[in-house]
Amino acid sequence: METVQIGMLGLGTVGSGVLQMIQNNEDKVANVTGRQLNVKKVLVKHPERHQKVQGGIELTTDIQEIINDQEIQIVVELIGGIHPAKDYIEMALRSRKNVVTANKDLIATYGPELSRLAHDNDCDLMYEASVAGGIPILRTINNSFSADKITEVKGIVNGTTNYILTQMSQQGWSYEKALREAQKLGFAEADPTNDVTGKDAAFKMVILSQFAFGIQLTINDFNVTGIDRLSAFDVQQAGKFGYVIKLVGISQVINDGVFVEVAPVLVPVDHPLATINNEYNAVMVTGQAVGDTLFYGRGAGGLPTANSVLSDITSVTKNLVLKTNGNFFNNYQQRYIPATTDQ
Ligand code: HSE
Repeated sequence: METVQIGMLGLGTVGSGVLQMIQNNEDKVANVTGRQLNVKKVLVKHPERHQKVQGGIELTTDIQEIINDQEIQIVVELIGGIHPAKDYIEMALRSRKNVVTANKDLIATYGPELSRLAHDNDCDLMYEASVAGGIPILRTINNSFSADKITEVKGIVNGTTNYILTQMSQQGWSYEKALREAQKLGFAEADPTNDVTGKDAAFKMVILSQFAFGIQLTINDFNVTGIDRLSAFDVQQAGKFGYVIKLVGISQVINDGVFVEVAPVLVPVDHPLATINNEYNAVMVTGQAVGDTLFYGRGAGGLPTANSVLSDITSVTKNLVLKTNGNFFNNYQQRYIPATTDQ
């Protein structure tokens, strides 16, 4: 069986989960795609910290080692943030390597531009893991709502803040203690500012709005409020009145426009979103024909996010096989290149 070689950028919580899943589920992926997957090289800042990595994987500090490697067909970007991730992804696409990323900051900000570059180089750019960790929400919106008219997408799309709010409400922990624990558990970003200020959820709402409504926003186009000024007292008071506080993102059709917001809201205890605790996320998609649907799962953490990365790697691999036969399966990300970039 032929092998598809992968170059990975970053080996943190999600990267380690991806390696673990590839090594443990080799046969399953091979059955589905007809190809073996092999992580050939991993870009890391400090190779000495990753001496336990097994399987003949080459650690490198030089991105060119991956870009210039003709055998590598898929680059998996897991370093996060805009720089240098954007440059690295552009280099990979220009070298006709397919890209899988979990980077919501980058996709929310430069998604259409990067999708265009991928398209022009006959490559895939896939990013299921960028929204709601382990919930396959982008595929679902793209495939299962292709005919229905979506009227609203709302939900809890940040695991760190949901974990913090859950601990403040159920354990009476302070905001600071809950945040420290979320960092220890690997839910928070390297710098948790984006999590707690609502920016991380806002990036995800930009991507969800693009998939649901075909609109391209920036996080400066709507109100974003985080949970960084909430106290355990606020959370407990809400409980006394029959509510829980949740950081909710909403993108809703109103008349001819779309209203978007991220804010901590009072959710009645009998509402489905009130029952979503810890690092779990839930996304409610409402369609004109189907009505309300609810998608639930772990929104942060190594293995749940790695599962979404693997689903993209599998799709890209299937596409590589189809392309060798002269066919092309149009993956989800290429449907929404806004007209402004489509020249
Ligand atoms: N820091 C993010 C969260 C990770 O807590 O949801 C997953 O995107």
